[in-house]
Amino acid sequence: MPAIAAATTADALEAVRAKYLGRAHGWLRDLSAHLGRLDKADRASAGRAFNEVRLRVESAFAARQAALAPARVAGAPPDPTMPARHTWAGAVHPVSQILDEMIEIFRELGFTIALGPETESPWYNFGALNFPADHPAMDLHDTLYINDDVLLRTHTSPVQVRTLQAYPPPIRVLIPGNVHRRDPFDASHAPTFAQVEGLVVDEGITFADLKATLNHFARRFFGAIRTRFRPSYFPFTEPSAEMDVVCGVCHGSGCSVCKQSGWIEILGSGLVHPAVLESAGVDSVKYTGWAFGMGPARTALARYGIPDIRILYDSDVRFLGQFAR
Ligand code: PHE
Repeated sequence: MPAIAAATTADALEAVRAKYLGRAHGWLRDLSAHLGRLDKADRASAGRAFNEVRLRVESAFAARQAALAPARVAGAPPDPTMPARHTWAGAVHPVSQILDEMIEIFRELGFTIALGPETESPWYNFGALNFPADHPAMDLHDTLYINDDVLLRTHTSPVQVRTLQAYPPPIRVLIPGNVHRRDPFDASHAPTFAQVEGLVVDEGITFADLKATLNHFARRFFGAIRTRFRPSYFPFTEPSAEMDVVCGVCHGSGCSVCKQSGWIEILGSGLVHPAVLESAGVDSVKYTGWAFGMGPARTALARYGIPDIRILYDSDVRFLGQFAR
């Protein structure tokens, strides 16, 4: 079939197909219409001949189609206007980056890592930490109970007790982990968040060790920065203090991130209460210690001037991509 052989592109071949094999006005179709009008005697032989021709045309077409198809894929020049396929690379979440950085700074000071369970007994979460039996933190509207004997830990402090039970002093540990509270999900609270606890227990540890270590951390983590300690209260530390750093956004002059105070609270701390040492079986006359607890998400707000903590939980790549390294 010269017309089929002459078609050098799939489009040209399609035009030939329409002309000879097309269902509406194709040449074969018109020919078959004539068959019906032949004399009965001629019809059988003409039909056979027609079928033979039809098969030859169809197979010539199929062969040409097969010959052209691979040429079209392999031989076609690349299309430079085709949009490139976007590749996605994962990155470490900003809160995890901050955790890694904190761990590294304390590692250089000789701290190791300790971990504890996220489901706790009321004794580890409260009792061993010197909470009185009627303390409001234990109320149903503050703590998520699984049953009377199991709760989701509200802080990483129970791991202080677990660590002291497992290892004799001297101890210097950092305790990262998630904690849970029955809190509203608002601009500065989340019901599930990460904490990092620090614990030092040895002979002769004083409040000077606490201040020096935490000031060193603030200098390393936030750069040259002013800090302040405010008296506070926790059942498991005495005395207790909260540490503030100068607001990273306004540098102390007051802005919406620091609620016009010029300071951002980053952690709670204090000297380990003797009752905590005793409930863990540590001699509170021989040993003293200090501890702190901070939330890396809050620290992220302070460092980057993020006005709403919820954006750290949104998994919005437009936000998270800015922290990809
Ligand atoms: N556990 C306290 C909290 O979650 C923080 C803290 C830890 C305070 C260790 C003092 C010492 O708020």
